[in-house]
This record gives sequence, C-alpha cells and structure tokens, in this order.
Amino acid sequence: MSKSVIIIGCGIAGPVLAMLLKHTGIEPVIYECKTETEQAGLALGVTPQTFKVLNILGLAEKVVALGQSVEHFISYSELLGGTVLVERDTGSLFRRLGWPMVMLSRARDSHFLCDSAKGRGIPVHFNKTLIAVRQAGDRVTTVFEDGTTSEADLLVGCDGLHSAVRDFVLPGTDAAQYMGLVQIGGFTPTPDIFKASKPGTSRQIFGDGAHFMGMPINDSQMLWVTTFAEPDEARENWRRLSINDSSSKEMLSGLRAAGWGNGAKELIQGSTFITKYGLYERTMRDVWHKGRVVLVGDAAHPTSPHLGQGANQAMEDCYHLVRLLCKAEPLEDESLEAAFTEYEHIRVPIVSLAVAGAKKEGENRVMSGERHAKHVTREY
Ligand SMILES: Cc1cc2nc3c(=O)[nH]c(=O)nc-3n(C[C@H](O)[C@H](O)[C@H](O)COP(=O)(O)OP(=O)(O)OC[C@H]3O[C@@H](n4cnc5c(N)ncnc54)[C@H](O)[C@@H]3O)c2cc1C
Ligand SMILES: *[C@@H]1O[C@H](CO)[C@@H](O)[C@H](O)[C@H]1NC(C)=O
Ligand SMILES: *[C@@H]1O[C@H](CO)[C@@H](O)[C@H](O)[C@H]1NC(C)=O
Ligand SMILES: *[C@@H]1O[C@H](CO)[C@@H](O)[C@H](O)[C@H]1NC(C)=O
Repeated sequence: MSKSVIIIGCGIAGPVLAMLLKHTGIEPVIYECKTETEQAGLALGVTPQTFKVLNILGLAEKVVALGQSVEHFISYSELLGGTVLVERDTGSLFRRLGWPMVMLSRARDSHFLCDSAKGRGIPVHFNKTLIAVRQAGDRVTTVFEDGTTSEADLLVGCDGLHSAVRDFVLPGTDAAQYMGLVQIGGFTPTPDIFKASKPGTSRQIFGDGAHFMGMPINDSQMLWVTTFAEPDEARENWRRLSINDSSSKEMLSGLRAAGWGNGAKELIQGSTFITKYGLYERTMRDVWHKGRVVLVGDAAHPTSPHLGQGANQAMEDCYHLVRLLCKAEPLEDESLEAAFTEYEHIRVPIVSLAVAGAKKEGENRVMSGERHAKHVTREY
C-alpha cells in the first residue's frame, strides 16, 4: 500500500519535496499557515546544483525564465573611494556546471512552486497552523490551531526557521537566536545608471560597518539589500513595508549605504517597497528525525543568507530524502530509521559547512574601521 505523507510548510522545500514524492508514487498533502496570496520576502538565488533537482520535475527551465541569471559580478570598496576590488564573468563559470545561477523574487518562486504542486494534484491547505504533533505506533497525527487534526504514515517538517515540527523532533532544544545583524532591502525599477550595464550584472559594496548588494531579478527590476549590525533584536516576518510611510523614509535615509556610490544611493531611493528582518541561527543538530517525523530545509538547519545557501540546501535535502526513501522501500519502522539516519549522515556535514561559511561571511561584511580596511585589502 502506498504511504501517506503530511508536509508542513509550503515555502520552498515543501512544494519541491511534495512533487518529488508524488513522482515516486507516494501521495503527499501540504499544510501551510499563510494564506494563498500573501506576498512577502525579497529574493533568492538558485544555483546550478538546485536546477538539477528542479529538472527532475521538469521545472528548471521555467524557474530560469522567472528570474535573471547572474552573468557578471563586481565587488567595490566604499572605503577605498568606490574602487573595484574584483570583477568576474560568472555566467560561463556557472553554465559549465550545466545550469546558470539565477536570482528571482522569493514570493514568485514560492508561488510558482506551490502552483506547480497543486497542478500535479497535490492538495495544499492554506491558513493551517500546526501547533502539535502526536505519534502512536506507525501513525502520526498533526493538530492545527483551528482545532482540526490530520493523520498519515509520515510527517515532514518543511516549516522553516521557527519550525513547530522541530519542537516535536528535538523537544526542549534552543529557540532561534538573533545574530545581531539585520538586513534591509527592497525592489527598485532598474535605475538609469544601470541601464547600459551588461545584463545580469550583480554588484556588492563593502563599506565601513555595512555591506550592500544590488542585483537584477528580471528585465525591469533590481533587488538591493544592505547588512549591518544592530543590537536591538529585529524579528523576521518578511512583511513588505510601504515606501510612503514616514517611518520607512526615515529608515532609508538613515542607512549607511544611503549616500554610497556605484548605484547604492539610486537603488535605495527608487524602492517600490522595502522590508527589514533580523538574522537568526539555531544550534546545528546531527539528528533531524524522531520515529516517523523528519525535518527538511530551514526547519533542520537555518542558515544566514550571505552565501545564498538556504533555499539551495533545502532543495538538496529534498532530493536526498526522497532518493533514500525510494531505496528503503518497503517503508517499515526499521527501513525508515535507516533511511533517515543515512539522510542525516549525508546532509549534516555539508550543511554544517554552508551554515558556518555563511555566518563567517556575514561577520566579514559588517567589519568596521581598521579591521574592515585590512580585510578588504587582504582578501582582494
Ligand atoms: C515569507 C518568507 C519570505 C522569505 N524571504 C526570503 C528572502 O527574501 N531571502 C532569503 O534569503 N530568504 C527568505 N526566506 C527564507 C527562505 O525562504 C529559506 O531560508 C529557504 O528558502 C529554505 O526554505 P524552507 O522551505 O526550508 O523554509 P521557508 O521558505 O521559510 O518556508 C517555511 C514555510 O512553512 C510555513 N510555516 C511555518 N510554520 C508553520 C506552521 N506552524 N504551520 C504551517 N506552516 C508553517 C511558513 O509560512 C513557510 O511558508 C523567507 C521565508 C519566508 C517564510
Ligand atoms: C519583475 O519582478 C517583479 C517582482 O517579482 C514583478 O513585479 C515584475 O512583474 C517582474 N517583471 C517582469 C518583466 O517579469
Ligand atoms: C483562517 O482561519 C481562521 C480560523 O482558524 C479563520 O477565522 C479565518 O477567517 C481564516 N482566514 C482566511 C483568510 O481564510
Ligand atoms: C506612494 O506614493 C506615490 C506618490 O504619491 C504613489 O504613486 C504610490 O502608488 C505610493 N505607493 C504605495 C505603495 O502606496
């Protein structure tokens, strides 16, 4: 008999996992706490490795078309008068791996993946907040905030940074910790000064105590994001703030990067909306499952965004988990335990490197004074 699987979360990992499972004959169902149309977040980078996973589902070309490939990369130092530190042609480098590296709106990506899952007959229930998990024998029960419950053979937590499924798998462990860094960013219609640039040119600027990035996400829009240290904890709800609020205007004019060259000023001034979010971490655990419940993506291993690894590592988790579940058929307590354990053995070391690397990169980006100057001149 085919197994039933409940997936919590329809962000990035949830719909990809569901489609891969469906592909193998398993019938998944997704529950998501947000409403179907909510637009939130900024942008994600999708790497060549991830396109190989999306290609199994026949979705790689479609995701490429939703965003802008990174063809050219330039790094500047604001402290050294805006001089170029590094300039690289990245397009051919990435394509040698079989696929490009693509930047796209996170809301667009998530909606596209959710719609694709629905289009393949996977039920997606919105406005369903998981509050508890129960496991008895070989059945798992999920309890939602609206009082309803649901039951299946397996449960996968794709519910992100503050995962409720993680509370069941790793009870009493650490809550997400604020890392002392915030990001503010937005979307801006491509400013005139960039209109003559080579398509797909991404820029980053290292400044004193802050870092700025500006990259196209399609033919007409650019993403910008600046990172800096802020002692007061800033929550991440990823809500988009209206640019017309006086508080938003004040926040933008107060940014260190607000007066920077190389297009930073123009990108900030032209924003159509902005968002602000704190960066969080959780202790890396080497067990991501309990019984018939397993974690994927940020629910297992949140990573700071500086190396663009979160969504990509999440989709690679999906690939390996489904591959190992296929190998483990028939799915019984013992074969599941072996599959989940192997999944952890493969993924924990790789993901740990990505999480540590991204954290280090974040620290480098907000150095100030002499440390910053030394870092910039040594590294490049
Ligand atoms: C709204 C939003 C916007 C984001 N924007 C960006 C961005 O601009 N840039 C960036 O680098 N990263 C962003 N992220 C984080 C990024 O998506 C993840 O780091 C990465 O893609 C890993 O994906 P994931 O599927 O594991 O987790 P997520 O993408 O975080 O998805 C988790 C999903 O689970 C849902 N969920 C959470 N708790 C429950 C619950 N109790 N019951 C039911 N559903 C639940 C969430 O609503 C969400 O849809 C965003 C996350 C969210 C939720
Ligand atoms: C570019 O991306 C933005 C944000 O997702 C979207 O509103 C706009 O319609 C896109 N434009 C094109 C030409 O795809
Ligand atoms: C979401 O569910 C709650 C009940 O839990 C209900 O009151 C609310 O109207 C629902 N919202 C939407 C947009 O469906
Ligand atoms: C902000 O104000 C401008 C000009 O008054 C207007 O054109 C735009 O639609 C407003 N944007 C939002 C998000 O309210």
